[in-house]
Amino acid sequence: MKTYLRILQYARPIADFLPLYLVYTLLTIFFSIGNFTLIIPLLDVLFDTTKATVADAPTAMPAFALSIAYVTGAFKYYFGQIIAEHGRIGALTFVCLVVVASVFFSNLFRYLSLRLIARVRARVIRGLRLDLYQRILQLPLSFFSGERKGDLMSRFTNDVQEVETSVVNTLTGVIRDPLTIVFYFVVLFTMSTQLTLFSLLLLPISGGIIATVSKRLRRQAKQSQKTLGTMLSVIDETLGGVRVIKAFNAQKYILGKFMDQNDQYARTSRSIDNTRDLASPFSEFAGVTVVAGLLYFGGVMVLGGQSDLTAAKFIGYIILFSQVLTPAKALSSSFGNIQRGLVAGERVLSIIDTEPAIRDQPDAAVLPPFEHEIEFQNLQFSYGETPVLFDVNLKIRKGSTVALVGSSGGGKSTLADLLPRFYDPSAGQILIDGHDLRACTLHSVRDQMGIVTQESILFNDSIFNNIRFNTQATEAEVIEAAKIANAHEFIVASPEGYQTVIGDRGSRLSGGQRQRLSIARAILRNPPILILDEATSALDTESEKLVQEALQRLMQNRTSLVIAHRLSTVQHADEIVVLQHGRIVERGTHDELVRRQGGVYQRLSSMQTNAALV
Ligand SMILES: Nc1ncnc2c1ncn2[C@@H]1O[C@H](COP(=O)(O)OP(=O)(O)O)[C@@H](O)[C@H]1O
Ligand SMILES: [Mg+2]
Repeated sequence: MKTYLRILQYARPIADFLPLYLVYTLLTIFFSIGNFTLIIPLLDVLFDTTKATVADAPTAMPAFALSIAYVTGAFKYYFGQIIAEHGRIGALTFVCLVVVASVFFSNLFRYLSLRLIARVRARVIRGLRLDLYQRILQLPLSFFSGERKGDLMSRFTNDVQEVETSVVNTLTGVIRDPLTIVFYFVVLFTMSTQLTLFSLLLLPISGGIIATVSKRLRRQAKQSQKTLGTMLSVIDETLGGVRVIKAFNAQKYILGKFMDQNDQYARTSRSIDNTRDLASPFSEFAGVTVVAGLLYFGGVMVLGGQSDLTAAKFIGYIILFSQVLTPAKALSSSFGNIQRGLVAGERVLSIIDTEPAIRDQPDAAVLPPFEHEIEFQNLQFSYGETPVLFDVNLKIRKGSTVALVGSSGGGKSTLADLLPRFYDPSAGQILIDGHDLRACTLHSVRDQMGIVTQESILFNDSIFNNIRFNTQATEAEVIEAAKIANAHEFIVASPEGYQTVIGDRGSRLSGGQRQRLSIARAILRNPPILILDEATSALDTESEKLVQEALQRLMQNRTSLVIAHRLSTVQHADEIVVLQHGRIVERGTHDELVRRQGGVYQRLSSMQTNAALV
């Protein structure tokens, strides 16, 4: 219920639609009840029992009141008049005309209420998607590791869709159907208390069955959404790794993985459908059984003359009662739908409710422009329970270049990720000109940094837009940046120059080209602090040279933290820091470090020189 109300909050302001919806719904119900009660005078006319009706009719218009008595009284008055003046054919014409008018109005108001619902639905879904997307933009990097991607995609598409089709659609189930049933029963009671009481006996039984069914549906729906998430993860991995899958002839392996999930999903979907489909046949059967029971008991009473019901009224009663079955059936199946939608809604809201672990403190300050020094003080960091960095102390003066080297898994990338606050340290602090980064706004910290990593992150857009990315740069500035980044030549040689679209994640470019676009992007942003994490490691020697050249130009007059795999690329750094198993084990300039006998750097260096000689 809480989830349902929260989802409805997205339809705010509720005053915009709820009162109007209620009015439309009540009018719909009023006119449709009117339709079916008109059967009674119609039968009277046909069976020629109108004398009784005329005798029964009030001789004057009853005083106005908002009650069934008034409506029936008024109708009886007019009807009596018409029979007296125009005879049976005239009465028949009158009843038919009233039926047409009443059907027209009941459908008109039904349509108007559906229009309102459509508006609410659109509003809810738009709001829900927007909140979800905004939250995803805020969540820290650590949130997106592992299996999350497929799961997130499924929440975005499938779960939101599920909320749309079920929870919102069942507004009718929550408001219109119950109201309809209540009003029909009020009318039924005024027609015959005895019969109506009898029909109510069966209510608790159907209620119990519906409750059991919906509990079961809820459990199954949870299982099904989870499976779908895993399946989407497999699909996502497959799309990203098509090349490897083909190269390793791993189609069968990955197909097996997919089939497991797919089969499981099909199984849970089937049992959900089975359970849900049980609701409607059951309620139809129960409903018709009740009607048959009513026919029997009522019929006996009418035939025995024990009831004040006339035959026409009795048939009218049965027809009206059978009309309750439709909303009752809809109500029981919408219980199933609501369950499914609520599970989906909870999955969406749980992401929206995830508090980003890294965010601005309430009193966060704007980090002033970088002037003097970056300092890592007694820094510790763990991924969850696994400690990765121990007691790191490091200073980077403005304008200098500090290189991080060491074997893979040593914690270099982790250290670099702490600077733009992708993660916050577990202990110790990072200061820029003495300001603790955690006390500064994320935006102001990241605004001063440019990052180029091993994988260049490009978007499926034109080259121009990829370089200009989120800046207000002019065309001339973009071209200038591309020239500095050694990218201009290949760009103008591309089919549509700067307007060439580069495919998903830049798949139509070579690794070196992608990297040079990333560098051009960083140049355009012109950040005082640069972080380069193995920016050339994935490249062949030829493009490495072009990229290296571009990087040198990018690093000019900037403060840089450079992670390099190939030591030759960092020889000229002002300080080289060797990180092993999360600790700084050596530091100094290249010349100092190569001379240190038995040092880690010397060993790494000689290994690479030998490799180059082979
Ligand atoms: N997102 C992560 N979650 C958990 N452990 C991680 C994560 N990223 C890296 N690690 C672990 O942290 C250690 C340091 O990794 P990393 O900083 O990437 O090293 P390097 O860049 O020096 O190769 C490794 O043992 C790695 O397995
Ligand atoms: Mg790394």
